[in-house]
Amino acid sequence: MNSENLLHTPEGVRDLYGEEYEKKSNTENAVFDVLTKEGYKKIQTPTLEFSDVFSSSIGTTPSNELYRFYDSEGNNIVLRPDFTPAIARCAAKYFMDEKSPLRLCYSGSTFSNTKSLRGKLREVTQMGAELICDPSVEADGEIIALSIKVLKSAGLREFKITVGNADYYRGFCREALLSPNTEHKLRDYISQKNIYAAADYLKEQNVNDIERLIRITEFFGNSEVLDKALEFATNETSKNAVLNLIKLDKVLNSLGVGEYITYDLSMLSKYDYYTGVIFRAYTYGVGEPLVKGGRYDNLLSYFGKDAPAIGFCVITDDLIQALNHQDDIKKASNDRYLTFALGKGRLASKAMELLEKMGITCEEMKDKDTRKLIFVNEEQKLKFFLAKGPDVPTYVEYGAADIGVVGKDTILEEDRDVFEVLDLDFGKCRMCVCGPESARELLLHKDRIRVATKYPKIAKEYFYNVKHQTVDIIKLNGSVELGPIVELSDVIVDIVETGSTLRENGLSVLEEITPLSARMIVNPVSMQMDSDRIKNVIQNLKVLCEEQQ
Ligand code: PRP
Repeated sequence: MNSENLLHTPEGVRDLYGEEYEKKSNTENAVFDVLTKEGYKKIQTPTLEFSDVFSSSIGTTPSNELYRFYDSEGNNIVLRPDFTPAIARCAAKYFMDEKSPLRLCYSGSTFSNTKSLRGKLREVTQMGAELICDPSVEADGEIIALSIKVLKSAGLREFKITVGNADYYRGFCREALLSPNTEHKLRDYISQKNIYAAADYLKEQNVNDIERLIRITEFFGNSEVLDKALEFATNETSKNAVLNLIKLDKVLNSLGVGEYITYDLSMLSKYDYYTGVIFRAYTYGVGEPLVKGGRYDNLLSYFGKDAPAIGFCVITDDLIQALNHQDDIKKASNDRYLTFALGKGRLASKAMELLEKMGITCEEMKDKDTRKLIFVNEEQKLKFFLAKGPDVPTYVEYGAADIGVVGKDTILEEDRDVFEVLDLDFGKCRMCVCGPESARELLLHKDRIRVATKYPKIAKEYFYNVKHQTVDIIKLNGSVELGPIVELSDVIVDIVETGSTLRENGLSVLEEITPLSARMIVNPVSMQMDSDRIKNVIQNLKVLCEEQQ
């Protein structure tokens, strides 16, 4: 590596100096000030830990996201990806016989070895607090109220804390006799509010009563959803989970922080060690939660101390980003524009037709000669823009648009962190493996074949994980049917709508991968911050789509 390259840091980590460093250090001081004044004692754990502290059996960071290596004695070591298991280990060691509540707080770097960064850092500073040996709902309230105090004292003005309970979902899974693997896989779909993928997956697994499981995604919003969620619960675990949230709601109101709280019974964490209440803080301008926390009553027993606990961490780097942006951020009220990103072409026209039927209009967009990029409906506080299909999930993931309308093919290919909330039931087509009839043999014999496609991710997932066939995937940008015709590839993976492009070129559908249609996607932060308006759009569109079927 030449010396010029050495001036850069590796991707995902960065230098901090001058004013920016000053700001970070002031924020950290403000956070520590609140935590220590509230009786939380500082604790420091090492950056390096034995990998067993973060092993999959305690349900923490997936092993492919860990920085893992061997020390000179052959011990398997990791760079800490998360604080909670390390604090649990430490508390079990130094406070083994302690029975009264322990209050600890910390600050330090955590590391995640993720492949696709999407603007996120691999090394971030986390600060947090843990309350150990107190199982009470008052302890839950104390920790949530403390996270609010921390954000406020750092200077953050507008944010929401969304509270859920991991046991609500768990209770329904046990009731439906789901295997741990199915429960795990379904969790991703439920927490992304992707009810279509959830339903398809449950059908594949021959699960009964799919409707009940996917309706969990409907319970989000203010405290009224708790009564509806309680009415819906048929098993003791889920009922107790809501009853616990109802008690917590009272505690939070008595602590004077009720205005910050919303609930979401389908908010689930990738950390399996959470046992009850879980919560996150959201604000505009940062795509990720600023605070993540929850109750983990079984984690300490993994290290030999049987003690309940609850805690949270603030991602300091994200908090600073939010503080830097908060003056540009419009209020999460009716003054704020709700922004729609629509996939250019037929999808956008069909989407506007549907929106118009429910009273959402944009006259400016009807002007065919306009060169404008953003269209505004001042009265309804709405903005619309048209984007190339693959860019729609990107705008929505980053929060540049709250809502997007895009084909399922693009959602699968782009794999962005968005909620997929509605099948709009138009733009129907199929993703297929196509080619000359002679290629059918090749697919049967699992020969190593060449596949041309605009959708390399979908093709790879299908051939490697569904068919278990090794193939060479060649990315093309359009007119993919040319692939087999000019002998670039044996087959293609592409969209088939009417089938006429295939017919006119002597090709056929050889295998169907998945049906496709237009979907509505939502930014996860907008869903929490502006839940009433967005819920209203989803609900009205849902009714319209059902009427049109
Ligand atoms: C899409 C797709 C097929 C064609 C299928 O291409 O990639 O080529 O439509 O439609 P059909 O079954 O009704 O014939 P698109 O028109 O988007 O252009 P592209 O080939 O440049 O991607």
